[in-house]
Amino acid sequence: MDTKTKATLTLDGKSYDLPVHAPTLGPNVLDIRKLYADAGVFTYDPGFTSTASCESTITFIDGDKGELLHRGYSIDELAEHSHFLEVCYLLLYGELPTAAQLSDFEGRVTRHTMVHEQMHYFFRGFRRDSHPMATLVGVVGAMSAFYHDSLDINDPWQREVAAIRMIAKLPTIAAMAFKYSAGQPFVYPKNSLDYAGNFLHMCFAIPAEDYVVNPILSKALDRIMMLHADHEQNASTSTVRLAGSSGANPFACIAAGIACLWGPAHGGANQACLEMLREIGTVDRIPEFIARAKNKDDPFRLMGFGHRVYKNFDPRAKVMKESADEVLGLLGIENNPTLQVAKEMERIALEDDYFVSKKLYPNVDFYSGIILDAMGFPTSMFTPIFALSRTVGWISQWKEMIADKDQKIGRPRQLYVGEKHRKYVDVRHR
Ligand code: ACO
Repeated sequence: MDTKTKATLTLDGKSYDLPVHAPTLGPNVLDIRKLYADAGVFTYDPGFTSTASCESTITFIDGDKGELLHRGYSIDELAEHSHFLEVCYLLLYGELPTAAQLSDFEGRVTRHTMVHEQMHYFFRGFRRDSHPMATLVGVVGAMSAFYHDSLDINDPWQREVAAIRMIAKLPTIAAMAFKYSAGQPFVYPKNSLDYAGNFLHMCFAIPAEDYVVNPILSKALDRIMMLHADHEQNASTSTVRLAGSSGANPFACIAAGIACLWGPAHGGANQACLEMLREIGTVDRIPEFIARAKNKDDPFRLMGFGHRVYKNFDPRAKVMKESADEVLGLLGIENNPTLQVAKEMERIALEDDYFVSKKLYPNVDFYSGIILDAMGFPTSMFTPIFALSRTVGWISQWKEMIADKDQKIGRPRQLYVGEKHRKYVDVRHR
């Protein structure tokens, strides 16, 4: 931590010095850790709009520029030249791997793709019509009941094994959740396939027919995974860190992250966005929906638009839009009506005063659903695919936190506005 300056807070005639830490990138950070002990006051920041909750070296976002860096590498460059497992290595270990390191890492992930056979029976306790996210939260949480040898968070080797297990098994579990909801038999992983291709295989192969992975689709899916791999201290990542700060086991922490991701303001937006675009249906109905999004009395929001940090184009949305064009073109369905509605919606919104003045731009979820739909996934699988892609980010952040000597249990305070002390009144006298 680089501390060069200090700020002075004056309160009731007394002055308090607050250290100011300089980051490698981004705004300076006021250190208020001793504020309550010294001045007897709390700070108030619901939604954490001005609060840095931790020190981190993994991901950097410049929301005004619309820039996203993983370990210093821009997402545009990674999306163009890298692939998902290489980005996983980068996020987990801090550097791009050598060829030998990459091959070793890919081998380790590949050897862990199967789940404990007993887990198959666990699935059967769920209703067939459960949302795959509901199943995913439950089954990932239950991993701690199956993998007892990687629960000790104080053992770096066990942390490593838990990390590899989750990166390897999340696609298997998500595919099983999908197969279960479709009433089809589970498909075991095929380790001759790459990460994305294997996931497509586990989702779409059936015992009665041969399934050949379409390389256009597996490349596009790999890119979607890369674009979702990590995103700094977002709601689900902060949930993982908070859960982990109590010493909870890694599987329980990732299950907590999945639960948080499900909400429509976060990872659930990809499902909500495609459903919205389909509901709009035709370009002529866009103005009606734009008007609803602007109406303060209508809870409707333009899904896939807006972001807490980006006040410019989400750089992931740009890549995703190009990918949507490319994939639908290669599949010969470039006249897809949903894509037409999405593009026209984006054009109209970006010229509209309401969206311009509030700096609302398309986010990563605006175009991802269109690609996933073209691949044959139902909308209910969009958020599970986000979850399996983000697992590496959650784990990298969790590992960073566990290794941090300054780490403490997360315990915010509050601005209490309830009743003052009252005397208990017996029920007969109320
Ligand atoms: N449509 C219409 N108006 C919007 C939208 C939207 N999508 N997003 C924000 N606004 C408006 C708000 O009504 C608010 O207006 P006001 O200042 O007049 O009250 C203003 O813009 C600021 O919005 P906040 O909700 O305060 O911004 P916040 O940073 O808390 O929310 C969020 C960000 C949750 C992403 C929001 O933009 C949203 O709900 N978007 C739609 C859901 C979505 O796409 N989520 C995915 C996010 S990316 C991800 O998780 C992968």
